[in-house]
Amino acid sequence: MAEPTPANWAAADRYLADTLVGHDPALEAVLAAQREAGLPESEVAPVAGKLLHLLARISGARRILEIGTLAGYSTIWLARALPEGGEVVTIEAEPHHAEIARANLERAGVAERVDIRVGGAIDVLPTLLPGFDLVFIDADKERNTAYLDWAARLGRPGTVIVLDNIGRAGEVADPASSDPKVIGTRAALDMLGTDARFEASALQTVGIKGWDGIAVAVLV
Ligand code: DHB
Ligand code: MG
Repeated sequence: MAEPTPANWAAADRYLADTLVGHDPALEAVLAAQREAGLPESEVAPVAGKLLHLLARISGARRILEIGTLAGYSTIWLARALPEGGEVVTIEAEPHHAEIARANLERAGVAERVDIRVGGAIDVLPTLLPGFDLVFIDADKERNTAYLDWAARLGRPGTVIVLDNIGRAGEVADPASSDPKVIGTRAALDMLGTDARFEASALQTVGIKGWDGIAVAVLV
C-alpha cells in the first residue's frame, strides 16, 4: 500500500482522472487561460467536475444555478449535462473572471446555454426566476448560509444542492477555528443538518486539491 501522503493522494487522483475522465482539450484550455490570467486555481478537480456533470444528468436537471463561476471550468461540466433547451445561470462577482469565463465558454461551445450574471451573488440571487433543478455553491464561503437559503427559495422539492469545500483540510471539525471560511462552512453544514428544508450528507475528498470535500443535499 502507498503511504497516505498528499503526493500519493494526488497521484491516485490523477490515475482516477486519467481512467475515468480522460484527456479533454476544451477543459485543459480553460485551465491554461485561467492560469494565464492569474486567476486562483480553485476550480474543482476533474473527477469532481465529472461528478457534478453526472449528478446533473442523474437528476435530469434542465435549469442549473451556479454561484461562483471563476473561469468557467465547473460551468462547462454542468452545461454539458443539459438537455436541449436547458440552461446554466452562473453568478460571478469579479468582472475580470467573468470575462475570462465568457471566452472559455465560447471556446468550449456552450456559451449559448450559459447565462453569466456579473455581480455579487447576494444582489443577483433575488433577481432570478425560481425553479432551479440543481444548485452548485462554490463562492465566498463566508456567505454559504445565505446561498443555501437562496438555493432553497429558488429550488423545489427534489432540487439537488452541491456545496464545495466542506473539508478545508480537516479544519471544519474545529469549533474554535477563527478562519472566516471555516466558520462560514461550519454554519452551512449546521444549517444542512438542522434546517428541515434540506436532507444532506457530505464526503471528504483527497487528491490534487488537497484534503477537502463536498456536501450534497436535496430539498425536501
Ligand atoms: C477556496 C475556494 C474554493 O472554491 C476552492 O475550491 C478551494 C479554495 C478558497 O477560497 O480558499
Ligand atoms: Mg471550490
